[in-house]
Amino acid sequence: MTHSSPLSNPSIVTDPYPAYADLAEKEPVHWCDGLSAWAVMKYADCAVALKDSRLKADRMEEVLSVKFSGQLLPPDNIYHRFTKNVMMYADPPRHTALRKSTQSAFTRVAHEYYSEVIERVASELVAGIPNGTREIDAVSDLVAKLPVQSAVHAFGVPEEDLEFIIPRVDTLMTYWSGPQDQPVELEKLLELLTDLHVYSLELLQGKRGRVVAETVIARLAAGQGETDVTLEQTLHQLVLLFIALFAPTASGSASSGMLAFATNPDQIQRFLTDPACADNAASEVVRYNASNQFTWRAAATELEIGGVKIEEGQSVVLFLGAANRDPEMFPRPNEFDLGRRNSGKHLSFGMGVHSCLGRQIATLQLKWFFTALFARFPMIRLAGEPSWNPNLEFRSLRSLPLSLG
Ligand code: HEM
Repeated sequence: MTHSSPLSNPSIVTDPYPAYADLAEKEPVHWCDGLSAWAVMKYADCAVALKDSRLKADRMEEVLSVKFSGQLLPPDNIYHRFTKNVMMYADPPRHTALRKSTQSAFTRVAHEYYSEVIERVASELVAGIPNGTREIDAVSDLVAKLPVQSAVHAFGVPEEDLEFIIPRVDTLMTYWSGPQDQPVELEKLLELLTDLHVYSLELLQGKRGRVVAETVIARLAAGQGETDVTLEQTLHQLVLLFIALFAPTASGSASSGMLAFATNPDQIQRFLTDPACADNAASEVVRYNASNQFTWRAAATELEIGGVKIEEGQSVVLFLGAANRDPEMFPRPNEFDLGRRNSGKHLSFGMGVHSCLGRQIATLQLKWFFTALFARFPMIRLAGEPSWNPNLEFRSLRSLPLSLG
């Protein structure tokens, strides 16, 4: 059935949850014209779909043909080489090999190191607010800097190269946000992708800025050649990591988390007084507001989701943000509650083979950020109307006026 979908209405970005709840009740798997895809709203259906091998992550050829219809690229073009060889858009067994090739940078010991570094980064960030400051824009003054500083000190991105990488990722992200209108020319897109690959090669060869020891990039460089993947495939994973690092996900979660705390000050008290609640904070923050509201799959064969028939080749959009507010999984889903027993069951980092590689690092950023913030500013409150960026897929605040109390 084709009809106008509430999900196509851009104004829902400020609060999409009433529209999600309405759909989940009336038509939990429904055709969304704006996305040209089946939208899946319920937790159980999303969780099953994320683990269903008939739903393929390899989907970027379709995105290209929707966004740049009629503009064909040869198979050896950087676009195809990248999207076919990057873990996010690959399916097993290729996915398995690509993901395994990055494991040296994501071990338990490596995460212990990142935790120490991110704790320091977060406390320096909060300490950087001058004494006597009464109000801040929490986005520009604080959280926008959190992933950048973590990228430098835990990931090993050379600080002097940030101004090369970040604007390129920002522009690429306008393409990566699903098959809607495309504001960037295809030629520009390919140029930026090439730039990031050339940069990654020079970085691994030691021709660009210095990579600090023990960081993610240093560990990936040291592990290169120890697995079956080629040097070019390693470069693809590195470019993907740059995109993931500077996408508005970690900053989006930190800022929506600040909004949740500022409007539920009793939860700040629980954070400060109950260690179990403090431990659960990062999970509840990302459950309450997923910064990646939905993710995509392509049906490799005809199948059913929630009793609805999906044709081979059709796109499926799994609404992680809606699943996280499903009352059948999370009682009183619209309450921000650090005491919730199953916050960790959220789908904000996906599930199954593609579950977020940066999950632990993102969680560390949130944990140490809120720890530093509330130790110094336990009385934060909303000081004006927050505003959201106009992107539902990567939902993040544009500004968040806060009084520091
Ligand atoms: C709060 C911050 C973050 C959120 C909400 C988030 C969310 C997600 C989600 C939902 C997926 C699964 C996508 C799918 O199944 O289609 C994913 C995958 C991924 N994320 Fe994150 N992410 C975050 C931070 C990061 C960071 C900091 C990194 C850097 C290491 C990262 C790297 C990746 C990678 C490489 C994948 C693909 C994994 C695979 O396909 O095997 N993410 N992320």
